[in-house]
Amino acid sequence: MSTDGSPAPAGARYRTWVRLHRLRALAGATVVSLAGCVLAFVSPWFLFFLVPLGIFGYITLILALTVYRLGPRGGDFQRRIHLLIAGSVSLENGGRALDVGCGSGSLAVKVAQAHPGASVTGVDSWGHDWEYSKDQCDRNARAEGVAGRVSFEQQSGSALSFADGSFDAVVSCMTFHEIKENADRFDGVVEALRVLRPGGAFVFLDLFGDPAFYPNPAGIRTVETPRPLAEVMDLPFPLRHPKVLGHAMLLTGTKPA
Ligand SMILES: C[S@@+](CC[C@H](N)C(=O)[O-])C[C@H]1O[C@@H](n2cnc3c(N)ncnc32)[C@H](O)[C@@H]1O
Repeated sequence: MSTDGSPAPAGARYRTWVRLHRLRALAGATVVSLAGCVLAFVSPWFLFFLVPLGIFGYITLILALTVYRLGPRGGDFQRRIHLLIAGSVSLENGGRALDVGCGSGSLAVKVAQAHPGASVTGVDSWGHDWEYSKDQCDRNARAEGVAGRVSFEQQSGSALSFADGSFDAVVSCMTFHEIKENADRFDGVVEALRVLRPGGAFVFLDLFGDPAFYPNPAGIRTVETPRPLAEVMDLPFPLRHPKVLGHAMLLTGTKPA
């Protein structure tokens, strides 16, 4: 995928942030609930299935529409968000960038494309719950023609193996709230900033406005004033829903020298 918005080249495959196995399980629960409701012709007790039908049906609908909106046919918002982050990073020719929680490599690839002299490292834990892998990242970087400047490593964002100040820029997208080893999700931001050199740029997108993950917003403001994603980009339904990207915020700044 290129920075000018043209579609991904053949061979590049980026999955959305919605885990399809969860969507399938919810769709299955909706179908079972619907079947239960149909049995109300046999006994009115089966009408109790209306409750799970409403709950599972609503969640399934929101998630399915989210997949559509994030993907190429529904506006390509996941790609547009990655392009926004990659284009916001300030990185000099020959600089080193890190993407924490690189998923399928989409953002790391876009950072490399936006900064032709830079080298980019993507790290991710690639746990079983996710449908991303290092192989997929390597394939995508090759298909996008940046394999020589982009590399991927399996690492946890909770304890990066890099020395303090190793990178000229650090990016991360929708990952810090997923780092379960960190009781305080903000520790992921602190760890990412540790490996950034003084004066280096960072751009982080995460659910910083969601009190379920970040109950202490004061900690976030010590880094930089976050901007709601919805102010930076016009998000259609259901992306602006609080359980989707309604709490997503951008933290952009420079590490003090
Ligand atoms: C919503 S996905 C975002 C992926 C990618 N940043 C993107 O924007 O496409 C969350 C990512 O966090 C990764 N992740 C979860 N826990 C992690 C950890 N402890 N360390 C590094 N990555 C982790 C997952 O493997 C997954 O790739």
